[in-house]
Parts: sequence; C-alpha cells; structure tokens
Amino acid sequence: MIAPAATLDLEAFHFIRDFVYRSASIVIDEDKHYLVEYRLAPLIEREGMRSFRHLVTELQQPSAGPLRSRVVDAMTTNETSFFRDAKPFDILRRIILPQLIERRRPYRELHLFFGGCSSGQEPYSIAMLIRQYFPELNDWDVRLTAADLSGEMIRKAREGLYTQFEVNRGLPARLLVQYFEKSGIHWRISESIRSMVNFQAMNLSQPLALSTGIDIFFLRNILIYFDQNERSRLLEQVRDALRSDGCLMLGAAETTVFSNTFFVPLPVEFSNMFYLKNTPAPFQTTSA
Ligand SMILES: C[S@@+](CC[C@H](N)C(=O)[O-])C[C@H]1O[C@@H](n2cnc3c(N)ncnc32)[C@H](O)[C@@H]1O
Repeated sequence: MIAPAATLDLEAFHFIRDFVYRSASIVIDEDKHYLVEYRLAPLIEREGMRSFRHLVTELQQPSAGPLRSRVVDAMTTNETSFFRDAKPFDILRRIILPQLIERRRPYRELHLFFGGCSSGQEPYSIAMLIRQYFPELNDWDVRLTAADLSGEMIRKAREGLYTQFEVNRGLPARLLVQYFEKSGIHWRISESIRSMVNFQAMNLSQPLALSTGIDIFFLRNILIYFDQNERSRLLEQVRDALRSDGCLMLGAAETTVFSNTFFVPLPVEFSNMFYLKNTPAPFQTTSA
C-alpha cells in the first residue's frame, strides 16, 4: 500500500472529483473523500506512483489519456446481478415483450439497448429470457446492444465468465444448467447467449452516437450517479433514440432521481421502473 504520508489531501480530492465529473458525469459528494482514497490507492500503487499529488500531476499531462480512463474506470460502481430485482423481468415477460413482439411482427425486428451494463449480467438475463419464452424471435433480427464506460467491465462482459458467487446471485439453477458450462472454478455463458449481445465501450455523458428505433432502453442504476442536469441531458437523448411506442426501464431506486419531463410512467405494477414517451400508453397493462 502507499505510505500514510501519501493520503489524499483536500486539493487533490477536489481535482479528482471535478475530473471524474467532467469525464463521466459521475458526482462524488463532498463527504466521499474516503471512497476516492479507497478506490484509487490500489491504482496509485499499480502505476508505481508516490502519492495522490503525483497522480494529479500525471493526470494533467497531455499524454495522460490511458491513465485518465483507468482513473474514471476505478471510480465507477459496477454492482450488478442476474435478473436484478426479479419482478420487473416478470413485467417484461408478461406485458411488455409480448405486445412489442405483436406490433413488430410485420418487420420482425427488435432492438434493445442497455446503458451502463456493467459486467453483462443484465443483457444476458434478457437474452436468456428471450430464448426461454419467445422462440418466435429465433429468426428475427433481434439486436441487444450493451454499453458501459468501463473498458474493464466491457472486457469481462464480452468474456462471459462468472464466479460461483456471481451465478449464485439471481440466476435460477435451471438457467445455469442450460446456458452455462463449467470453466475451471468459474462458469462460462454459452456461445448461443453470448453471441446475442453486442458490447460496446460508450460514455453516456458524451453526445450519444445511438441508432434511433430502440424498442426498450434499459438505464438501470446509473442515473443515481448523475446530477439533475446530466440526467435531463441523457434522458432527452434516450427519448430521441426510442421508438414512439418504446419503453424506458429504470432501476428500482431511481424514482426519486427521475425527472419526469420527458417520460410518463407505464401504469403497471412497479410503474416506477417503466416509462413511455407518449400517451396514451401503447400497452394493455393487465397481464396475459
Ligand atoms: C451500478 S452499475 C449498474 C449495472 C446494471 N445496469 C444493473 O442495474 O445491474 C452502473 C454502471 O454504469 C456505468 N457508468 C457510470 N457512468 C457511466 C457513463 N458516463 N457512461 C457509461 N456508463 C457509465 C458504470 O461503469 C457501471 O458499470
């Protein structure tokens, strides 16, 4: 570990806090000094630097591009799990996907986008759900695009290799048996599921190069890290990217951070998680 003398002073903390906000829109509260120290101390050691001051100096060099990415990466919170929060996946299966499929049948196309996908459990959960419950989609053009700022998370997601602990969190045993194979002490997701998802490194705090025509935009557990301005800016872009009858899905804890300017809630159970850009709602909301 770095020496105690190299602890994070207030000036370096403010520099790093501003830098992370400018780079990724991630807000680090004034009282999160300990978090920056905890997350960046291992990086400082790995980079062979002497102190946080040294890190700040290096970040200001014109050639610091790769170091800047590693610092932002280290400051992201990547908590995720398969079928996180469980219930909304049930709403997707019973209400949203069947009706979207019905409406898209003439074109046989479906495009789902996952912003802030972390290590891939969220898009892979949906890929498994599609394979399990909607075999009709096997010969449709189904695009699952998943993006995250963290290069390390995108690498892990593409690899599709999970620990026992990770597969124990939210993944039903029958899906583990059906779609994973043992690889040493880990579990590897099957190629049939892996190949359904296209992972991309993407910074959602930049103007988005998104194709329009997205049917469901998953933006779960990421707005909580942004301030109101950045949430609004991102949600406006999400709104533009969604089809007129598309659906935005947020995380369970995001009701209070969500500005309703661009969307209306879908009147279903867990309506705090599902939003539409138009009224009247293009979905029957009683389950099939
Ligand atoms: C808490 S995880 C949520 C993962 C998943 N959506 C879920 O709900 O389980 C938040 C993810 O957002 C990513 N993230 C944070 N800021 C981002 C940005 N500006 N652009 C893209 N991804 C970002 C982080 O790297 C992290 O993997």
